[in-house]
Amino acid sequence: MPLVIKDEYPEKLFRDDGKRLDGRDKNELRPIKMEVGVIKNADGSAYLEWGNNKIYAAVYGPREVHPHHLAKPDRGILRVFYRMATYSVFDRKRPAPGRREKEISMVISDCIEPVLFLELYPGTSFEVFIEVMDADGGTRCASTTVAALALADAGIPMKSLVTSVAVGKIDKKIVVDLSGIEDKAGEADLPCAITWYNEELSLLQFDGDMNLEEMNEFLTLAKVALKDVHQIQLEALKSKFLKLQNEPTKKKDEGTKESDA
Ligand code: CDP
Repeated sequence: MPLVIKDEYPEKLFRDDGKRLDGRDKNELRPIKMEVGVIKNADGSAYLEWGNNKIYAAVYGPREVHPHHLAKPDRGILRVFYRMATYSVFDRKRPAPGRREKEISMVISDCIEPVLFLELYPGTSFEVFIEVMDADGGTRCASTTVAALALADAGIPMKSLVTSVAVGKIDKKIVVDLSGIEDKAGEADLPCAITWYNEELSLLQFDGDMNLEEMNEFLTLAKVALKDVHQIQLEALKSKFLKLQNEPTKKKDEGTKESDA
């Protein structure tokens, strides 16, 4: 993947062989890897690598709300803290949370909240801390996806997972999952998220320009990509439980060996 030097973008975002600069086809996702249960002290956690993005999510709750005045007597609250590490981008990012981080935290919270049963947890909070260690385009989508996975890992009742992906337009062509360079030099970016229990979009943001026909194409591409990412989320959860399933047998075997000796 070419390195983006500040404000220097390539003139063309497609190579002569018709592939994107990182070698992907128009509807191809970047490589994605997910793992759950990566932070021991958290109630639930997940790690995700999505292209060059590297993101951790840690979930705590239900627990007492601090500051107390935020507590709701009739329901729990979801608080999301999206942060980018100072070294996660080419220019050093200021450590204090900026407007962009606050906006993304709010967006993630809004698109995950519909799948939680917050009414069952009055006066408490669920807190999701998202740390972007390396950022390369689409971090709000990747963060939403990993946050939902961490909530599931915490065993919090959920109607379904939430999955998010961005589609966009580069060099007048519609593509899925924009990389950092495509996000900056492209013509349009449309991050969206889906709540699987009702198959409704809980996030649809848009930056750029397009017509109605293109919008339909965007959504068709997004649907396929969302399904693929959802599958990877499910695999990550399943692989944790398969590991757990095998653990007691291992311990029992070890116990037998010790007593035999
Ligand atoms: O990350 P996402 O596409 O969801 O959000 P964005 O605000 O459209 O940012 C796009 C990309 O710009 C990020 O993924 C980062 O790679 C980069 N960025 C940056 O280089 N410096 C920042 N202070 C913020 C974002």
